Amino acid sequence: MAAASGGGPRTNRVRVGPIDLAARVDEALAVQALAFGLGAEEIEVRRHIVLRHLDHPHARALGALTPDGRLVGFVYGMPNERGHWWATVVEPYLRATGSAHWLDDSFVITELHVHPDFQNRGIGRTLITTVTDAVPQPRSILSAIDTDSPARGLYHSLGYQDLARQVIFPSAPKPYAVMGAPLPLRRR
Ligand SMILES: CC(C)(COP(=O)(O)OP(=O)(O)OC[C@H]1O[C@@H](n2cnc3c(N)ncnc32)[C@H](O)[C@@H]1OP(=O)(O)O)[C@@H](O)C(=O)NCCC(=O)NCCS
Repeated sequence: MAAASGGGPRTNRVRVGPIDLAARVDEALAVQALAFGLGAEEIEVRRHIVLRHLDHPHARALGALTPDGRLVGFVYGMPNERGHWWATVVEPYLRATGSAHWLDDSFVITELHVHPDFQNRGIGRTLITTVTDAVPQPRSILSAIDTDSPARGLYHSLGYQDLARQVIFPSAPKPYAVMGAPLPLRRR
């Protein structure tokens, strides 16, 4: 999308492209900590999880970089596997709403975060559409805190629909919504 990749005024020349997220995991988690609110202990836990995820042969990661190379946003995901922890948690909820088939042939958006100083310029939208445009799966799923957040607003506008609400992840303090969208994601 031109807004975030072509140096337009809305993005102050932030560019979206592939990055070695494992090598930049600390920078990424610093962005996530500010955007999503992570404490020091959670960052350490997430660090191991992110590095394990990125070992997946089909994991894909994109970063949003300022002209001087600072990471101000990132997205990563991978094809869903029903044996993955995330899928085992959401599967009973999706089964209950008749949407468990969304777990097959689906690309999971695992994390999407934009530094608060850079939000609302189209960067999040560019990250998620660019990463999903490049995958062979016909659809995408994700989970987001089940509230009226900018993230949920963005996902709805991209065509994600609620597949299950009030999904409880062990250890997560708030319930999540599981959302799914056909690919390619809807354009405005
Ligand atoms: C979700 C997030 C990644 C979006 O990144 P972003 O770069 O600000 O998003 P964009 O500028 O590309 O898109 C903003 C879109 O979000 C939605 N949005 C933004 N603010 C909103 C609000 N207050 N209420 C509802 N929707 C809102 C709109 O759909 C908007 O689209 P528009 O371009 O038509 O206005 C960013 O807000 C973020 O990092 N949030 C905190 C972390 C988080 O919640 N991550 C997702 C975890 S599931």
